[in-house]
Formats: sequence, structure tokens, C-alpha cells
Amino acid sequence: MPKRIHVNLFEMNCVGHISHGLWVHPDNNRHRFNDLGFWTELAELLEHGTFDAVFLADVIGAYDGFRGGPQTALREAVQIPNNDPLLLIPAMAAVTRNLGFAATFSTTYEPPFAFARRMSTLDHLTKGRVAWNVVTSYLPNAARNFGLADEVEHDRRYAIADEYLDVLYKLWEGSWDDDAVIRDRDNRVYTDPAKVRYINHVGEHYRVAGPHLSEPSRQRTPVIYQAGASDAGRGFAARHAEAVFVGGFSLDDVRANIEDTKDRAVAYGRGRDDIKFLAGAAVIVGRTDAEVDRKVAEFRRLRSVEGHLAHAGAGLDWTRYHPDERVADIIARQDPGHQRLTSRFRPEQTVGEVLERFGGFDRGPFFVAGTPKVVADELERWVDHGGIDGINLRQFLTPGTAADFIELVVPELRRRGRYRESYDDGETLRERLFGAGRPRLPDAHPGARYRDPAALAAATPEPVPVG
Ligand SMILES: Cc1cc2nc3c(=O)[nH]c(=O)nc-3n(C[C@H](O)[C@H](O)[C@H](O)COP(=O)(O)O)c2cc1C
Repeated sequence: MPKRIHVNLFEMNCVGHISHGLWVHPDNNRHRFNDLGFWTELAELLEHGTFDAVFLADVIGAYDGFRGGPQTALREAVQIPNNDPLLLIPAMAAVTRNLGFAATFSTTYEPPFAFARRMSTLDHLTKGRVAWNVVTSYLPNAARNFGLADEVEHDRRYAIADEYLDVLYKLWEGSWDDDAVIRDRDNRVYTDPAKVRYINHVGEHYRVAGPHLSEPSRQRTPVIYQAGASDAGRGFAARHAEAVFVGGFSLDDVRANIEDTKDRAVAYGRGRDDIKFLAGAAVIVGRTDAEVDRKVAEFRRLRSVEGHLAHAGAGLDWTRYHPDERVADIIARQDPGHQRLTSRFRPEQTVGEVLERFGGFDRGPFFVAGTPKVVADELERWVDHGGIDGINLRQFLTPGTAADFIELVVPELRRRGRYRESYDDGETLRERLFGAGRPRLPDAHPGARYRDPAALAAATPEPVPVG
């Protein structure tokens, strides 16, 4: 059996997520993002194409590091205006039966208790179709929105995130037994108090008593997605993540990154196959080469380099440097923003090369433009040579990119046995990724340990059963 490809749509509750400038394209519907119909129509389309899930990115600040303010981001609609991703999910769930929903939420600014309930609510309402993309947030403006003078230091954000997840696991996995809700009308007992417990978490950053307010949902813990690239980020992924966004400069590089995260996961007592690896991919497909060329040329013409600089320039105004300067020189001089350069740019790259890359959707290991056969060949190579399990499909046009993929690529992948023919109706998102019969975290996952009341009690200073 050839390995099947998982496909998520890469989305965000905003106009300009990552394809900056393209909102002006006459066939683009991004400006409708405030309408519920935009999202329900998209959900119906993706379910028709049997996508795994729609993935919703999120930021909680403005990109105001570029040229000293948010002007470029505002003009170009670079992730502002944006709305809350979680609130879209019930509406999209109401018009679908199987599509999954992966939403981003940050561990840095809001304490965990309310978020635990929000996610449990979504897991109930979707019958186990939700995932959470754990981020620690990278925008200085986000810090200032939540009362801090500046960002919490990078590795410390991951340390806080570790405790945040520990609290959530206690609430989701340990606070309620599976059979706590008995709905015994005769004896007038809805929930058996002996089967619900306080978590009494006391840690460096959080104090949370519990009990969890939601009863157990199908997955309990939503599927955990993560995209850390740094050493701390990869360590975090190896401990917690079930799906990881992997990147790299080449397919060999990607493969090495995957092996590294798998090795680390094994060191934490998890299985090598307990994590799926997804790559952000740009796919431009057409019926003929001429159609493909036309689309690529159109997207190149409309893309906004300024928008990309405001988004991904790490706060640096690259246009102010001499094109021959190297990234290593900027780091050596410790120019403002230099700390963020190491993970995303190579030291030997020149400013000219970096500027060339901005807005360059048409390079890197996960770009393909071609007819369905060419695209399917390339997707197979990514999976077989790069070692990925699937893609997060980047959008150029909404709904055009997803519609093209469904109409042209999906049938070709199906012919090759690489894409599901239909959903297994009623499965949870975790089962879609890891197989039927395991809607919950596997036993080797760190969150699973709190299912044992004794382990929960051992982790709390004063374990107290409710009843
Ligand atoms: C595909 C992908 C999607 C991401 N989505 C978000 C997002 O929605 N919000 C966010 O704050 N960060 C997002 N990030 C950034 C990551 O959370 C992370 O900060 C980044 O990959 C750098 O890794 P590090 O934090 O370990 O240095 C995303 C990264 C990737 C690769």
C-alpha cells in the first residue's frame, strides 16, 4: 500500500495570511472573511474534497516592527484586520460531518483554565474533530497587548508552555473519569462526585484548582499540532506534538529534521510513529501548461514584496542594507532583530538573496506548478523522499486554490492510491491521523499519565477528590 497523503488547508481568519498582495485578484474572495457564509462554503468545499482538516493560524498582535509601525501591514492587509479562529469552528462543524479543525492558540498570554474549557466545548460540538496548534507567539506587539513591556524570552516561553500543557493534561485527562456522568434519574444523580477530582496544580507560573468544568469529550485532549524550529521548539514538539509542521532548505534537510524530532520523541519514551509531519506547500495546478504558466505569472505580478517584508522580515527593514551584506554580518553587529535571524536565514545568504526570496512562493522544496500528473509526481516525491506525511496547502486564491486541488489533483492522487476515497464516517481527527480505535492520546504521551488518579495525586501537593 503506498503511503497516503494527509491534506489540510492552510487558513487564517483574515484577508492576507501568507499570500500577500493577492487579495486584489478579481477571483479572490478573501475580503468576505467577516461573513459566516465565507467559512461555511469553504468547509463544505473541503469536506467535498475529503480534506483532513482546515488549519487556522492566528496572531494576537500587529506586525509593527517593519519601518517602525503597522502602516505597511494595515495597507497590505497583512494578518490585520483579523478575527478569532476558534469562533469559526462551530459554524463550520454545523455544515460538515467529518472535516477536522486545527486552530492556533498561544500559551504565553492567557492562563490555561478558560482555554481548557473552550477546547473541550469544541471537541464536544464537533464530536472529536479538533486539533490545537500550540504557539508561544512571536510578535512584540502581542506582548504589549497583554500588559508586558516586551516579549518573554524565547526559551522561557517554551518553559511556560510546558507547564501550560501540564495543567491542560491534568484537566482534560485526569479530572474526570470516563464514567463520571451517569444521568441516573431515579436517584437524582447527574454526575457521580466520586469520579471527579480537583487537580490542585501549583507550579511556577500557574495555580489551578479544577475540577475541569467540561465532562470528557471524545478526544479529551485535542490533537496537538506544533511548528517549533528552534532547539527548544523541537524539544517541545518531541514531548507533546502529534503533528508537526516541518520545514527545511531541501528535501534531504526536511528528512533530517524529521529524523531528529523522531529521535527526540523516542528519548521521551514516545514511539517514532507517534508524530505526523506536515509541510506547508504551494501547489499551482492547471489543465494545461499554458494555464499553469498564466496562473504563476499572475500571482508573481500581484504579490507584494512589501507585505512579505512586513510579515516575515523579522522586524528588519532589509531594503536599507546593501544587497551584498551577509546575514552573518547583521548577526555579528547585533543589529535590532538579529536574534530571530539564525533559525530562518542562512549566515552566508546576502541581503540581495534574502530580498529575492521575499514573496517568492515559487521556490523551496515544497513548491510545484504543473498539470495534475506533474503535481502528483511531486507530491509523491515529497512523501517518499522527504518523509513527510502530508501537506498544509497554501492558498493563493479563495476558494480557487482548494477548488483546483480538489478538481484536478485529488482524482490523480486517488488513481495512485495516495488519497482517501471517502471519510470513515464518525472518526475523530486523531483516528484519521493514527488509525481507528484510538480517539485518545496514546499511553506513551506525557498527557496520558494523568489518567491514573494516583499519578495525578502524586503531581499535586494536596490531592482532593470532590466526593
Ligand atoms: C506552518 C507554520 C504555521 C505557523 N503558524 C503560526 C501561527 O498561526 N501563529 C504563531 O504565532 N506562530 C505560528 N508559527 C510559528 C511557530 O509557532 C514557531 O514560532 C516558528 O516555527 C519558529 O519556531 P521556534 O519558536 O521554535 O523558534 C507557524 C510556523 C509554521 C512553520
